[in-house]
Amino acid sequence: MSELIYTGKAKQMWTTEDEDVLRVVYMDQATALNGKKKDQIKGKGQVNNQISTLIFNYLKAKGIPTHFIKKLSETEELVKKVTIVPLEFVTRNIAAGHFASRFGVKEGTPFKQPVEETYYKSDELDDPFMNESQALALGIATKAELDYMWELSRKVDQLLIPLFAKANLQLVDFKLEFGRLADGTIVLADEFSPDNCRLWDLTTKAHMDKDVYRRDLGDLTPVYEEVLTRLEEVLAKE
Ligand code: C5P
Repeated sequence: MSELIYTGKAKQMWTTEDEDVLRVVYMDQATALNGKKKDQIKGKGQVNNQISTLIFNYLKAKGIPTHFIKKLSETEELVKKVTIVPLEFVTRNIAAGHFASRFGVKEGTPFKQPVEETYYKSDELDDPFMNESQALALGIATKAELDYMWELSRKVDQLLIPLFAKANLQLVDFKLEFGRLADGTIVLADEFSPDNCRLWDLTTKAHMDKDVYRRDLGDLTPVYEEVLTRLEEVLAKE
C-alpha cells in the first residue's frame, strides 16, 4: 500500500514497501510568489523529472551524496527517505532576482565571489532570510553540519557551472535542500531543475528557467525541453 505523505508545490511524496524509500511524483504544476501565482502546465512534471535525474546522476557520479536512487517512470523517481533540514541554500554566481531587487543592482552584474544565502523553509512566513547565528540559535543544524552543506553547495556550483556552460547556459543562481538519513548522514535532497535555478542562454541571455513563468515571458515547457535536450547532448559526450 502506497500512502501519500506530502504534497508540495510541484511534487508529491508517497511511501513504498521499503520504509527507507519514497516515491516522488512530479506534477504538472507551477507556482510563483510563494504559491500566490499557480497554474497547471502540461508536460512540466516529466521534463523536470528528466532534468533532475540527469543532474543528480551526474552529481552522484562526481561524489556528491544524494537522496536519489533512480528514475521510475516519466514522472516518478525513487529516493531515500530523509528528514529535510528546513533551510534553503541559495548560491548566486551573477546578480539576478531578489538579490538584484533587494540591493538595487542591475541583473547580470558579475560578483567578485559567489553569494551564499540561507532562507528558513516556511510557507506561512514566506521563507524568511535566516543567517548562520539564527540557524544555530534555533538548533536547526550544528555549525559542522552548516559548514558541510555549504561545502557540498560549493562543489555542486563548481561541477554545474562548466556542465551548463557546455550546454551554452550560464548558471546564474540556484537553491539546494539537504536532508538527514535515518543515521543522521546529510545528503543532497529535493530536485535540481529550472524550477530552482536560473539559467541564461550564454549567447542570447534569454531566460531558460522558471523566470519565464514568473515574468510571463512565454510557454514554460518548450523552454525546459530545450534545456533537457542540450543537457542530454552534453552528457552523451561526457
Ligand atoms: O528569488 P531569488 O532571486 O531569491 O532566487 C534565487 C534562486 O533560488 C533562484 O534560482 C530561484 O529559482 C531559487 N529559489 C527556489 N525556491 C525558493 C526561493 C528561491 O528554488 N523558495
